[in-house]
Amino acid sequence: MDVELELDIACKATLTTLHIEPLNSGAFDGVAWLSPKQEAMLSSINPATEDVLAEVSCCDDAGYQALLQNAQAAAEQWRNVPAPARGELVRKIGNRLRERKDELGRLVSMEMGKILAEGLGEVQEMIDMADFAVGQSRMLYGKTLHSERPQHRMYEQWHPLGVVAVITAFNFPVAVWAWNAFNALITGNSVVWRPSEKTPLCAVAVQKICAEVMKEEGSPAVLSLFIESGTELVQQLVEDKDIALVSFTGSSNVGRQVGERVAARMGRSLLELSGNNALIVDETADLDLAVPAIVFGSVGTAGQRCTTTRRLFLHQAIYSETLTRLIRAYGQVQVGNPLSPKVLMGPLIDQAATQQYLATISEAQEQGGQILFGGGYIEGNGCFVEPTIMAAANHWSVVQRETFGPLLYVIKFQQLDEAIAMQNAVAQGLSSALFTNHVRHAEQFLSSRGSDCGIANINIGTSGAEIGGAFGGEKDTGGGREAGSDAWQSYMRRQTNTINWGADLPLSQGINFEIDTS
Ligand code: UN1
Repeated sequence: MDVELELDIACKATLTTLHIEPLNSGAFDGVAWLSPKQEAMLSSINPATEDVLAEVSCCDDAGYQALLQNAQAAAEQWRNVPAPARGELVRKIGNRLRERKDELGRLVSMEMGKILAEGLGEVQEMIDMADFAVGQSRMLYGKTLHSERPQHRMYEQWHPLGVVAVITAFNFPVAVWAWNAFNALITGNSVVWRPSEKTPLCAVAVQKICAEVMKEEGSPAVLSLFIESGTELVQQLVEDKDIALVSFTGSSNVGRQVGERVAARMGRSLLELSGNNALIVDETADLDLAVPAIVFGSVGTAGQRCTTTRRLFLHQAIYSETLTRLIRAYGQVQVGNPLSPKVLMGPLIDQAATQQYLATISEAQEQGGQILFGGGYIEGNGCFVEPTIMAAANHWSVVQRETFGPLLYVIKFQQLDEAIAMQNAVAQGLSSALFTNHVRHAEQFLSSRGSDCGIANINIGTSGAEIGGAFGGEKDTGGGREAGSDAWQSYMRRQTNTINWGADLPLSQGINFEIDTS
């Protein structure tokens, strides 16, 4: 059978299995889908073919208000459910995701454009996060503290926040929601999801799976979703005093506004913003490890991960050899339909992204950049570009920015100190990596005078973090930490409790406050 036809049939079957209709509601209030409004439709576009996959009707103001009320009511019920029992709901959702992994992974590839292996990987990331959160639901530990006063006991405990808003980006249309939502659920909150308008179907499909499970379990309406085209409702969401925590993934520019507005109403925000990640290869590095890591880091997901390798610092001793091997490897990267098995790089998300990518390459050339590989647009249907390697200098304004595409800047260095200084000399601070076989170099990179990023790796690339670690970055990346480790604490409020079990009322700091109260 003709490959295109085969892909088309597979695509239609995926939509059917996930109960995606030609016309879908883009608002689920935790209990039911609000009825679609024909006049406010958002098209879901497959960036590989530019075909419309389905239409999603946007949430209106009344729907949004109803949804928020339900989310608040659900939070009030949910906080009374014991945490391990909350974990049970997440376990069931995780199991259902396991059953639907193939279809959902395929939908991620179809709507977002990442290759199927990565689409499936993204769903696996959700499943991993569910497993993690189930375990964590029995480990919401607080400390026991020693009081300075006799017959006093102190401890701290963690309580739910209330309603958590999760605003996600197109590049990880489902996994980043899962990092937030599963932690938010086990910690006793309800969740309102506002996905990217570029990937509404993935959100609808996930919400359908969760709705099924919530119904079967008879749980409160703890997971809700609204889709909009534009930013009217999401702006209200950010300003709304009833939203205790706003988790936002996106650019530093937008994230800064979100952070400021939430802070102005004394709310909490959790920001996961732009990266400008560097990978350093020193003179002792094993190039058999470094080269594939660079290719996956820069070309994987067509350079549209926040962890994508954007700057490559090569020691002068291995500069030529690494580049030769890299260019050879890039030459083998097949760009095309992300569902085709041999393809390693799919399209960019839309035509605006391809235009921006090409404009950035021209701008970098004007600043002195020399194209060593790629640089072009691939004609035909779909938002396809060539991956690009460019010799550049770190201080150029274009290199200082995050460009969401497979554009890798290469910079030569002589001393590790110099490479680390250049790596840190950008506004962003998400991920970083050093390839070395030199123990002193590795330790220096990981020391307090080494990488200033939230993620620092040795002999693995900048992208592809496991969910077990706390994910996030410093400086303009926003400082938030999500997913594993103790990131669950961001979804809870800490309370310090002091209990006096004695017959006296001693004051702290030894204060004497004599008064006759008899
Ligand atoms: C993102 O690009 O927003 O570490 C998240 C990674 C993935 C997550 C990326 N696990 O590359």
